[in-house]
Amino acid sequence: MYDSLVRPILFKMDPEGAHVLAHSLAPLLKLTPLKFEHAAANLHTKLSGTELKNPVGLAAGFDKNGKLIDIIDRLGFGFMEIGSVCALPTQGNPKPRLFRLPDDEAVINRLGLNGEGAHAVAERLGGEHVSFRIPTGLNIAKTNLPEVQGDRAVTDVVSTFDCFKAFPFTYVAFNASCPNTHEGILNERQQLTDIIREVQQKNVKSLPIFIKMSPDSPEPLIEDIIEIANSHNVSGFICGNTTTTRDGLKTDATQISQIGNGGLSGKPLKNKALSLLKRVAKLKNANQEIIACGGIASGQDAYDFLEAGAKAVQLYTALVYHGPSLVATVNRDLSALLKNQPLEHLLR
Ligand code: FNR
Repeated sequence: MYDSLVRPILFKMDPEGAHVLAHSLAPLLKLTPLKFEHAAANLHTKLSGTELKNPVGLAAGFDKNGKLIDIIDRLGFGFMEIGSVCALPTQGNPKPRLFRLPDDEAVINRLGLNGEGAHAVAERLGGEHVSFRIPTGLNIAKTNLPEVQGDRAVTDVVSTFDCFKAFPFTYVAFNASCPNTHEGILNERQQLTDIIREVQQKNVKSLPIFIKMSPDSPEPLIEDIIEIANSHNVSGFICGNTTTTRDGLKTDATQISQIGNGGLSGKPLKNKALSLLKRVAKLKNANQEIIACGGIASGQDAYDFLEAGAKAVQLYTALVYHGPSLVATVNRDLSALLKNQPLEHLLR
């Protein structure tokens, strides 16, 4: 029904309008018994010590302000990540800033970390009737304003962590890899060190800290990030964010150049994300975990990343193309690919 009825309607709308509509309709699911889920005992696993029913999570960016935490479980996800949440409320970049590439099952976005800001999100999540229905991670980024630089950037990120440090998050990820900001991906070693050190000083509940990396990172940056992570008790890495590259796309080159800047996600990202994962897996220490993300749209994709060293996977863009039953399909096919062996046998 999604392919034949819902997607054609959504794809007639501008992509951001369709996203806003899907967001506003999602709570209606609560009025129905509808649940898209594939439960399989061999998919049970753990992420940072927390039990997951399955290893497939919702990536950051879909629920930036934590509005869907009591409904996302209906889509069959094993965990979800909200954010990126920034200290200050920001509008993000001018519209249009979100584009579909249907021939590539991809999306280009340059939203620029729009969001309600940490205080508004913390107030929502702290509400009386709010509960995390599945394990939930929080993704934090620096406020995307040109004046938030240097020491102020460190204070900005640390203040967001401070707002949420008492919440029962499964992990907190620091997004060091958004390409749609004034300064692009974070490559200042000292700033990253200061952020992680100060976050850990405030981390009274010992929330597991992850760093979200860019598939465009040069090797020295990957080495730097892992060295900083190792010396500051970082629990793992998300590999990774969108790419600014445009290699191998089926979409017409003129259309791509008309769209302009932004991070590319979806199918064409898979190989880059897999390559980042393999590089990080070689360098990280044995206790650190990797959440894989980028171009995952099938059970085989999930299998490929888990086999290469990921502890769990996340997806976003494939939902746009395949709709709400996708996660159940990914889990069903992943479970079959494991041939009744527990997932833990595949994971290292
Ligand atoms: C994103 N992504 C993202 N990541 C992040 O850390 N913070 C964010 O706020 C956002 N926002 C965002 C918006 C939109 C519209 C998209 C498509 C993506 C990146 C996302 O979490 C993921 O890393 C990439 O999209 C790659 O995964 P998929 O989409 O190929 O499954």
